[in-house]
Parts: sequence; structure tokens; C-alpha cells
Amino acid sequence: MSSKIISHISIIMDGNGRWANQRNMPRAYGHKEGVKAIDKIVSACSVRQVSQLSLFALSSENLNRPDYEVQFLLKLFEDSINKYIDGLHSNNVRIKFIGNLESFSSKLLKNISHAEKITKDNTGLKLNFAINYGGQWDIINAVNNMLEDIDFSSKTKKISAIDLKKYLSLQGSSPDLLIRTAGEQRLSNFMLWQHAYTELYFTDCLWPDFNEKELDLAIEYYQKRTRKFGLLNPSNNVIKKDVK
Ligand code: IPE
Ligand code: IPE
Ligand code: MG
Repeated sequence: MSSKIISHISIIMDGNGRWANQRNMPRAYGHKEGVKAIDKIVSACSVRQVSQLSLFALSSENLNRPDYEVQFLLKLFEDSINKYIDGLHSNNVRIKFIGNLESFSSKLLKNISHAEKITKDNTGLKLNFAINYGGQWDIINAVNNMLEDIDFSSKTKKISAIDLKKYLSLQGSSPDLLIRTAGEQRLSNFMLWQHAYTELYFTDCLWPDFNEKELDLAIEYYQKRTRKFGLLNPSNNVIKKDVK
């Protein structure tokens, strides 16, 4: 494999329901199998020295699904954090949850804050879970928080991208590569700001079937891309330029 560094991968983990349907099983079965795929891919990213992995687990819009599915998913997150947290911690993974967490049960919030707290000083893979997350929510939330902080009376009434970025759920580098499983080719409101110059990779593979081999195919695709960031003569040495 070529040596081009891939620092941040994001994934829209789609297709759990279809995977279960194909087996005449309830959708919940697909979601459970999807968690096993997450475990596999987190380890694979650590081994491949990816610095950051951002996973779309539940969108703002997914909360409009039937209540039994939403409740099932929230309980699955609660149980899965419990089940996997020790393993993740011992693998030096740093966990962060992004999204509108306000409406979640106190049990789920407790597990989230425990996971973030015990892993906060870990120096390995940065793992971001987006739940009840929407890219539009993220931007609006950032603007609202910024309005509370900034005293516009003493400033010109203009903000810069650098100002806004400080208030988004994720600071730091934007994803280099976005993977979306299950054949759909859209962002579905995932990190709209951060994906401005991300390379996009779509596969028909359904999320529960996604494995190390599929990940390597995506990384191979990325290795062949020339990133230009709007420039005329991109140097192959340019690994990353963040959009300002
Ligand atoms: C992705 O799988 C997981 C979530 C959105 C929670 P889906 O549930 O969207 O599965 P499909 O698209 O119906 O197959
Ligand atoms: C996107 O998948 C959200 C997650 C994978 C968490 P959806 O299945 O909700 O997306 P659409 O509805 O097909 O755009
Ligand atoms: Mg879907």
C-alpha cells in the first residue's frame, strides 16, 4: 500500500435494516450485528494508525423513525458502551460523543460521560460517535453558542470561519475520507461543514458485512486520489490543508 497518510476517516454506517431483511430477521438484528462491525473497524483503524474515526450512528432525522426502533437503538447504545468501554480504554482509544444529547435518558448520559471521562487522556485513536447528530444542528448550535459568548458591541458584526469552527462539535482536522456503506450516495446531514473537501467513497456493502478487507479497499481508493483543495498544481506532498 502507498504511504500517503490517512489521518481521519468518517463513516456513514448504513444498511443494517436491509441486511436483516435479507435474512428475514427483524431490523433490530441488523443493528446488533452493526455494533460488531463497529468493534472490528475501530480495532482495524487503530492497527492502521488512523488518528481519528468519526462514526455516524444516529442522525437527528432518525429520531423520527417509529418509537420502538428509536428506543431499541438508544438501549443498544447504552448496553454497547458498557460492553465495549473497558476494551476500548485498554486499547488507548479516546472516545467522544457528538450530537444533541439533551433528550437522552440519564442511564445513557451516565454511560456516555463515563466513557468520555475515563478515556480522555488516552493517546491512541480518537473515536467520535455521532448520535442524534445533524450537520445543520451542529452549525446552528455553534452559532447560538457563539452569540452567547461574543460581545458584538465592541466588534465589527462579522465572524470568520475560524471563529465558527471553534464552536462546532469537532475541532481539529476534517475527515480525509468519508465511507458510506449500503449503496446510497448522499451525506444525509453528516458533518456538513467538516466534509467540505473530504474524498468520498461509496460501497454497496451493507454495514454489518463491512470488515477489514472492505476498509482496505476504501483506503486503497483514497491512496489513488489527488487532493487539490481548489489549487492548480497540487503537490503530492500536500497531505492535508484545512479549509479556512
Ligand atoms: C443504519 O442502518 C443505522 C441507522 C440509521 C441507525 P439503517 O437502519 O438505515 O438501515 P437501512 O438503510 O434501513 O438498511
Ligand atoms: C444515515 O442513514 C444515518 C446513519 C447511518 C446513522 P439513513 O438510513 O438515516 O439515511 P437516509 O435516510 O437513507 O438518507
Ligand atoms: Mg439507512
